[in-house]
Amino acid sequence: MSASGKASAKVTTATLRAMKARGERITALTAYDHLFAALLDRAGVDVILVGDSVATVVQGRDTTVPVTMEQMVYHCELVGRAVQRALVVGDLPFLSYQVSVEDALRNAGRLLKEGLAEAVKLEGGVEFAPTVRRLVEAGIPVMGHLGLTPQSIHQFGSYKARGQDDAEQQRILDGARSLRDAGAFALVLEKVPANLGALVAAAVDIPVIGIGAGPQVDGQILVTHDMLGLFEGFRPRFARRYLELAQEVTGAVSRYCDDVRGGTFPSADESY
Ligand code: KIV
Repeated sequence: MSASGKASAKVTTATLRAMKARGERITALTAYDHLFAALLDRAGVDVILVGDSVATVVQGRDTTVPVTMEQMVYHCELVGRAVQRALVVGDLPFLSYQVSVEDALRNAGRLLKEGLAEAVKLEGGVEFAPTVRRLVEAGIPVMGHLGLTPQSIHQFGSYKARGQDDAEQQRILDGARSLRDAGAFALVLEKVPANLGALVAAAVDIPVIGIGAGPQVDGQILVTHDMLGLFEGFRPRFARRYLELAQEVTGAVSRYCDDVRGGTFPSADESY
């Protein structure tokens, strides 16, 4: 069921391609646990990404680099059991697919077999096309990730927008085409100029899901903890906030502490 109460069909990779063909925008958000995954699914989001952003927004780390394969399998399984309609995509963490194609296949397989994901995502362009091809041959749907690829933060040196010069724009376009040719079913495009977002979406017949890539792509993804105002560590311009939950939570907790300290909680009605 969607939030509107209408039963809606399970989202598959084919659904997303058909949505692009019809010009229907795709909605995507991240989740890392059962409760949030169920809420997002009930609200009708099309794709739920178990992102390696779990490292920064849940584990309190500075970058996504330290998150492990075991942790990603664990979070995927929590999400996978909760979701009925959305397509569940599991993120391959740093060094789980870069060392060899065999490693990539084994680790992507784990996200499907143990983590209940229905597809995997990996960061990188042309150089990862052979890896994507092998995973797809093995029956594992792959979502690519181009533009700002946070696992390369130590190489980039900052989280500034990518694709700002002609050479990098060309690399991103070449990456999109080669991942599509290798069989990727969709791409995430992160933090690039809006005109490049439009060019990439027009260059490939698979959905391009933007995060800070402007409005002329085939869908949008945000980190749920950013859009709910839960995560305060970092506030990118592209992350529109629909709630200020961190303030709500600290306000509620401080009222609870006041009530306990002042002896007004529990009341007679809240006691046995
Ligand atoms: O890990 C993540 O949350 C992501 C999104 C930012 C696309 O990769």
